[in-house]
Amino acid sequence: MQTVDILREASNRIFENVKNLAGTEHAAGDFGIGAGGDISRNIDIVAEKTVLDYLKEINFECIVLGEECGRVELSDNPKGFIIMDAIDGSANAVRGIPFFCSSLAFATENKLSSITDGVITNLANGEMYWASKNKGSFFNDQQIRVRSNDPIYKIVGVNISGASDNLVKRVLPIFEKHEHLRHFGANALEMAFFARGLLDIFIDLREKIRIQDIAAGYLIVREAGGLLLDSDLNPLDADLSYDTRISFIAASNQKILDEIMSLIDQ
Ligand code: IPD
Ligand code: CA
Repeated sequence: MQTVDILREASNRIFENVKNLAGTEHAAGDFGIGAGGDISRNIDIVAEKTVLDYLKEINFECIVLGEECGRVELSDNPKGFIIMDAIDGSANAVRGIPFFCSSLAFATENKLSSITDGVITNLANGEMYWASKNKGSFFNDQQIRVRSNDPIYKIVGVNISGASDNLVKRVLPIFEKHEHLRHFGANALEMAFFARGLLDIFIDLREKIRIQDIAAGYLIVREAGGLLLDSDLNPLDADLSYDTRISFIAASNQKILDEIMSLIDQ
């Protein structure tokens, strides 16, 4: 079985196990602070356990870096890392807002740039986005690319949850200039939407996002032809540490990147 098929099967199992849980009181059960620094909710724990159980069942020799469970070594001779955010958009999932997903990636080294496979599953409906290095990105069975032509409505994604005063001031000109801003509350699924051409640019400059939230999106965006940059406009890369927090810009082409960057107060 190819690694990407293992990630896809793990995601399908998450979908089956959480699809009736979102929005229920049971979903919110508090399991204390997880490895990523947020409260682990019951729905997060159920989803992570699903993946861990499956990887053990098939004897997949790896180290899991989970947002809640932390580093779990499933072998003395690992092939690489599974980077797992079993529920991205946990607040949406707990509240029952149908915009949350799972994000699973496989990396051979301790670097984002060594990711070879990524899968993001929309857990509101089971739709799947997936990619393997140099093989393109897919939405269910259809290959996807970022948007290449000028859209009727330019859709600009900006994550400003919990942003500092200073950042809000810097990005304010984008809010003034653009009529169709979007912020849905699950970075991984927003990256998948971007890769499918539904958003023209997606930016998160808060220096807050964890590797788990963007690992699968990293590959899916790149394989769909998107520009993926850090806040200095260099190609995005980072180590897989739990302390790492990043900013990123996913742009469908240089023109929109230049336009949006010209609006941001440096
Ligand atoms: C969160 C989502 C959200 C972003 C937060 C993340 P989580 O992930 O990606 O869009 O604004 O910074 O923590 O906690 O639901 O896995
Ligand atoms: Ca999460």
